[in-house]
Amino acid sequence: MEHLLSAGDLSRTDAVRILDTAAELAATQGREIKKLPTLRGRTVVNLFFEDSTRTRISFETAAKRLSADVINFAAKGSSVSKGESLKDTALTLQAMGADAVVIRHHASGAPHLLASSGWLQAAVVNAGDGTHQHPTQALLDAYTLRRHLVGPQPLGQDLAGLRVAIVGDVLHSRVARSNVDLLHTLGARVTLVAPPTLLPVGVETWPCEVSYHLDEVLAQGLDAVMMLRVQRERMSSAGGGFFPSPLEYSRRYGLDARRLAALPSHAVVLHPGPMNRGLEISATAADSSRSVIVEQVANGVAVRMAVLYLLLAGGRREDVS
Ligand code: CP
Repeated sequence: MEHLLSAGDLSRTDAVRILDTAAELAATQGREIKKLPTLRGRTVVNLFFEDSTRTRISFETAAKRLSADVINFAAKGSSVSKGESLKDTALTLQAMGADAVVIRHHASGAPHLLASSGWLQAAVVNAGDGTHQHPTQALLDAYTLRRHLVGPQPLGQDLAGLRVAIVGDVLHSRVARSNVDLLHTLGARVTLVAPPTLLPVGVETWPCEVSYHLDEVLAQGLDAVMMLRVQRERMSSAGGGFFPSPLEYSRRYGLDARRLAALPSHAVVLHPGPMNRGLEISATAADSSRSVIVEQVANGVAVRMAVLYLLLAGGRREDVS
């Protein structure tokens, strides 16, 4: 594998290798000196055309922990705001000797274009493109599930047989698409739960079940529930006509204290962030002992270190193919 563009491109072997590498790298991060020399002399560019807190910071942290040189490029404040094209931006990064480009873009497919255009020699990592894919989010979610539900150092293991519900704004969610792909590859059983208006056309062809009824799915005995952010910025107005009101959405699809209590005692709660507290998840659920939301963020560093390491270290890109 030369690039990481989609969770759907990963075989079970690829995915388990990334998760195992992340576990090994995470074990080095309890040391007083966290920095490893692995990517010394390599340059990683974080190319963000869309806002981000967790993904941008954790890719930067991951690259720095591996001793890479890091260039942070935000479209705001760059020549993109003067109309510069993606091609000319890519040619500029190539001229600067980028070895890896981590790209977040509002247009679905922008990372594929960058990887296939020939404008760049660098490895391309998709850090979220439109409503399409966010593969490192799915990997850090799988890593978090594996640690909690399979074992603390579960090297070589997948998620076979685990039951996971992904709840909310599936229509606009690259996190949902990536997680359905990866969780299916790793053997988990996934149920998407959403109002009909927030499910994409063709969802019946995805490798998962679909329900409109959260309480019924919770009663089935889940191992994990992943709440999705209601992406109001991708809707034309506050609710965009996708649901009658925030209160009704919250009543039917929000994770509150009552629904939290309906989960089996071992089950965990995930959310990719940023959260709309009080809409898709209550403060009680977000801050409960079942919540692994903050841990997801921490795990993102180890998983992104693993991805950069496997793509770039020692010219052994074929190691993850
Ligand atoms: N989960 C996620 O992608 O968060 P950010 O938008 O803050 O990067």
